[in-house]
Amino acid sequence: VHQPVLLDEVLFNLNVLPNGIYMDATFGRGGHAAAILHQLNNQGRLIALDRDPDARDASKEYELDQRFSFYWDSFLNIKMIAKQAWVLGKVNGILIDLGVSSPQLMDPERGFSFMKDGPLDMRMDPTQGISAAQWLNQADRDEITHVLRTYGEEPYAKRISNAIIETRKKQSITTTGQLVHIICRARPRNRHKHPATLAFQAIRIWINRELEHLKVCLQASLDVLAVGGRLLVISFHSLEDRIVKQFIRQQSQTPYELARIPIQIKPRLKKIGAAIKPSKKEIVKNPRARSAILRIAEKLL
Ligand SMILES: C[S@@+](CC[C@H](N)C(=O)[O-])C[C@H]1O[C@@H](n2cnc3c(N)ncnc32)[C@H](O)[C@@H]1O
Repeated sequence: VHQPVLLDEVLFNLNVLPNGIYMDATFGRGGHAAAILHQLNNQGRLIALDRDPDARDASKEYELDQRFSFYWDSFLNIKMIAKQAWVLGKVNGILIDLGVSSPQLMDPERGFSFMKDGPLDMRMDPTQGISAAQWLNQADRDEITHVLRTYGEEPYAKRISNAIIETRKKQSITTTGQLVHIICRARPRNRHKHPATLAFQAIRIWINRELEHLKVCLQASLDVLAVGGRLLVISFHSLEDRIVKQFIRQQSQTPYELARIPIQIKPRLKKIGAAIKPSKKEIVKNPRARSAILRIAEKLL
């Protein structure tokens, strides 16, 4: 089961028009999607996508709903998907709920969790790219250190990469359990977090090229949204949130020193309100929500 995060806040800020066209770029298990569909009338449309094959299977529940379409793809391709789907016009709202879903984390076969032993895969789409195990067994020391530092902000990146290199001289690393064991021996314990938290986050982000896909998707959203349409992004860690915050800030700025602003550099977005975090009540009900942060912008031109 996946409980949608900040559901009321998403619905309120998406400003759902009953006959509008909406995109859920991270369908997951369809928690947000179901609530959006509930607010649409017969003319309304929801275009959903997700790069995970299990999310695609879950979306079959809605396949008879004429208002709904699903694309098994990364939101990297949001513009191409919108072009195929927007027979009716541009999109009135886009929701991007980043990160992994609870079913992805809970399935040991997917290799996302340091709490469960399983094959070290970590790909959101296991038919694309290489698995975490393939990468860890072939990357050089500097590359592993760089990934752990950049995408996990792991202070013991060098110690962990040294331990990975030493281990793989004797045996290849194929399971999450093996990787957790290597990390726990290489770095000190932390009172608040499992020692493997940062390294697992870093490797997952790298294997799925998460930040690159996000940057492309945000830029493309400017061409996909109708004027007045809303962009909502929920992030779960500072690296993602920084990208979203900077993007909204850059796209909302007016170069005030110019007397007449050429159309190409007029701000294309308006920031809506401050960042929204879940209430204490939501965090008690759904601890996964604790690090969520929602940012909202509106398309100007
Ligand atoms: C937090 S879950 C979304 C949950 C969903 N909002 C719900 O209510 O069920 C994140 C989802 O985003 C998907 N995802 C992550 N990166 C993606 C990308 N680049 N393109 C498409 N889907 C992506 C994951 O596969 C996962 O299913």
